[in-house]
Amino acid sequence: MLPGQPSHTLLRTAIRRAQHQLLDRPLLLHDPIVVDLVPEASEPHILADFGGSEELLPAMFRALFAMRSRFAEDRLKEAAARGVRQYVMIGAGLDTFPWRQPGFARDMRIFAADHPASLIWTQHRLRERNVERPPNLTFAPVDLEQQRLAEQLAACGFDLEAPGFCSLLGVSQFLTGGALDSLLRFAASLKTESELVLSFAPPDDELAGLDLDAITRSVARTMELGEPWKSRPRARDLIDRLVQLGFTDVFHLSPDKAQARYFADRHDQLRAPRWEQLIAATRK
Ligand SMILES: C[S@@+](CC[C@H](N)C(=O)[O-])C[C@H]1O[C@@H](n2cnc3c(N)ncnc32)[C@H](O)[C@@H]1O
Repeated sequence: MLPGQPSHTLLRTAIRRAQHQLLDRPLLLHDPIVVDLVPEASEPHILADFGGSEELLPAMFRALFAMRSRFAEDRLKEAAARGVRQYVMIGAGLDTFPWRQPGFARDMRIFAADHPASLIWTQHRLRERNVERPPNLTFAPVDLEQQRLAEQLAACGFDLEAPGFCSLLGVSQFLTGGALDSLLRFAASLKTESELVLSFAPPDDELAGLDLDAITRSVARTMELGEPWKSRPRARDLIDRLVQLGFTDVFHLSPDKAQARYFADRHDQLRAPRWEQLIAATRK
């Protein structure tokens, strides 16, 4: 991120999720809040800007951003059923979960943790739209390269002695290896029943065709925005590290599994991406 500036990538992911609401059926993620949340994600803006719903690469981006939130929220629901009552969205951006929280989340404490510059910007945009903060939502400023997430969260009321569910969606690629590993260690330090769901971007040599085109485009775009990619782990290495840290159940939602789970019945261009994948790691 550029010094003192909010992330620009958080707006792009929100716009894609808003496009998904307007252009795709069936929905992978029901998120009516994101449409109009910021002017750039409003219906007239999206429809005016949009080249055509049949274009493949835009469809793949919509699929990715909707799918990763959907997977995290599916897992969160299971975590809530086993008693987890704290949810930390790490690098929350314009994730709208707190404003559309289902019944199972109402007695949870939700923490939107993000870079201070991004948080100031998102809070300002929410105020502009008169979007009120739900009572169970806390904003937690943290620069993951400079500060310890545990300390920042504890200062905001997170209970380090109780289980927590953490999501890290579309963030790991922007972190140095050291900052990413600190996050994994933080999640592993939480009480049993805790869980981490994270997305990661595998290296180019594991990709081909449209997936390689998509990631090449993303890397170039975000580099122009001053947000270079820094971490591109292999699934195997990430899984080994999570097991080494003490996670007892590590599930890789491989592209094939994601396709079968979320895209099997579709007849449009949306399909499971290979250039960003998901892992859920639990401590039992
Ligand atoms: C691509 S956005 C993803 C936002 C959201 N998770 C989503 O899926 O829409 C990346 C997020 O990572 C955050 N981020 C990047 N570097 C960070 C850092 N060093 N500390 C804290 N947050 C950071 C940005 O502020 C931004 O909100």
